[in-house]
Amino acid sequence: MDDGSLDLTLVTHPVVRTRLTALRDARTSSVQFRDLLTQLTGMLMYEAMASQAVTAVTVQTPVGPCDGVQMTQPPLLVPVLRAGLGMLDAAMTAVPEAQVGFVGVARDEETARPQEYLVSLPADLRDRPVVVLDPMLATAGSMIHTLDVLARHGATDVTAVCVIGAPEGVAALRESGHRLRLVLGGLDEGLNEDAYIVPGLGDAGDRLYGPR
Ligand code: PRP
Ligand code: URA
Repeated sequence: MDDGSLDLTLVTHPVVRTRLTALRDARTSSVQFRDLLTQLTGMLMYEAMASQAVTAVTVQTPVGPCDGVQMTQPPLLVPVLRAGLGMLDAAMTAVPEAQVGFVGVARDEETARPQEYLVSLPADLRDRPVVVLDPMLATAGSMIHTLDVLARHGATDVTAVCVIGAPEGVAALRESGHRLRLVLGGLDEGLNEDAYIVPGLGDAGDRLYGPR
């Protein structure tokens, strides 16, 4: 953890950067957007799971015994509705052993503050790795709200996977005091007066599912 609480990984692989460029493009249709977000999530999930604990197992290949590993404790994936749902299938493909919980948060259009409308999580998340999925980290209000909810359920091992972040959101996460690994596919210039990420990609939920 680079400041004692936030461990930030910015993924700069050329394949991630090319897919992210296409995702941002205003001409990209919803169909293409969903597909690109799926591809990006798969790549970011590999990075997010890089330090997961594994346990030794032995399998029999057609030729003989082979030492291998399995995940010691599969994570709970938590998409932040709506836009995080666009990352769920790819995250489950990357980690088929995972279970899934849900948090629904929508920003108030006037204040940009998070309004919670759903929490569906196991009661006890102690000793359980949790991976939060949300494509956009703008002010970080929605992420910090989600981290607060997870902390109330006992979670201490939390990784967030976001496609695009703003420096203001990263700073707010550091100030929140939550201990977090954050995997980002891009770190943008900042926020505009409406708290949208610049250059960003617009409203991720609307681009996935249409305007609310
Ligand atoms: C988007 C996004 C994040 C949030 C980021 O969701 O998916 O959850 O905004 O902004 P913040 O960092 O300033 O909180 P939104 O509230 O638009 O809801 P939606 O996914 O249902 O469209
Ligand atoms: N939510 C989005 O979907 N996009 C932004 O730029 C900011 C918040």
